Amino acid sequence: MTDLKDKKILLVISGGIAAYKALEIIRLIRKAGGTVQCILTKGGEQFVTPLSISALSENPVYTDLFSLKDETEMGHLRLSRESDLVIVAPASADIIAKMACGISDNLALATLLASNKPIFIAPAMNPVMWENPVTQDNIAKLQARGIMQIAPCSGAMACGETGTGRMAEPEDILEIILEQFHTYKPLSGYKALVTSGPTYEPLDPVRFIGNRSSGKQGHAIATALAAFGAKVTLITGPVSLPDPFGVETIHVETAHEMMLACLAVRPPDIVVCAAAVSDWAADIFSSGKIKKDRKQKPPSIALKENPDILAMLAAPSPHRPQLVIGFAAETENLLETATRKRLEKKCDWILANDVGTEKIFGADENHVYLITGKDTEDWGKQSKHLIAQKLAENITAYFKSTDIQIAAE
Ligand code: C5P
Repeated sequence: MTDLKDKKILLVISGGIAAYKALEIIRLIRKAGGTVQCILTKGGEQFVTPLSISALSENPVYTDLFSLKDETEMGHLRLSRESDLVIVAPASADIIAKMACGISDNLALATLLASNKPIFIAPAMNPVMWENPVTQDNIAKLQARGIMQIAPCSGAMACGETGTGRMAEPEDILEIILEQFHTYKPLSGYKALVTSGPTYEPLDPVRFIGNRSSGKQGHAIATALAAFGAKVTLITGPVSLPDPFGVETIHVETAHEMMLACLAVRPPDIVVCAAAVSDWAADIFSSGKIKKDRKQKPPSIALKENPDILAMLAAPSPHRPQLVIGFAAETENLLETATRKRLEKKCDWILANDVGTEKIFGADENHVYLITGKDTEDWGKQSKHLIAQKLAENITAYFKSTDIQIAAE
């Protein structure tokens, strides 16, 4: 992974409870070898102190547009010019709105307006503010001007409400910063399709059959392939993760919708099926909520089999992708079952992961074995991000070796 040695990041911290996470961003950038200069807005100062930022960044903190000292020593132009990348985290609804209008009445805004460097914003706000069409219009305006958004996550918010608006986690923000400096693009020109997350199979308008997949592994794979230069389409079931940066993301709920979305993608070169697709769906969908009747036995649910998307994409055909990779999450006989599944589903490789012994669903680490048909490699226990990175490296090596064979023929 590229580190941030010799890289200068300008971090703009605006007002919001997520400002405390900016301290962790500073720590992670420093740990990766980068330097950080920080601008703290008046709102940001309500949540974190210049002292803590300056202690962590080991640099002065800039707050005032009209500070004689800062303007002579540094200036809002030089603050941006001397950095390699600018990131606004958290980006409040207010700073996003002002950026969209070109307002420059404080140091943060003037610096952003004067910047000629890549700018990322990591929005953080109440879900209703986030969903407000005004905010969405402002985001769209900024994106149209090349400002890159690190999408907020959904879940419980500090304000007590639930929805989308929580700032992306500092580790994910660091990952995106690292990717920006990643110049090694061996998969550019290749198209990849990745499935991720669970599927929800409805029983009635309220209930569904789902599973514990968080989507972390599949999303990390989509991110890694995009970082290696592939054009990635991610088809995801319901997850609370943000859409990966630089990846076309299509949201679906059921296995059937996932299958249709996969078939609608232009034939890819690489397929990675990491989704935990439900094997079954309810045979009959009840259009009204199934009622509980105390005098009757609980209802039995008839199930029908779902399409096997991996097997469908791996089946021999003139448009079969060159490399089709599946997952086998097993609780027992891991390697035998995964080896059998690779043959049954006709995929090229399978990543076997033991989900029986430890918590894997929702965790940040995974333990996988890569089964290629030629051999089986134990990749050990490591972060889902590193597994994704290693898979991207193996895919790259595979395409390099096939190129060599073609050239030799
Ligand atoms: O058979 P099993 O569900 O264990 O197979 C796992 C692999 O098959 C995963 O790669 C998963 O994404 C894929 N799969 C699929 N469609 C299904 C079931 C599984 O693509 N209906």
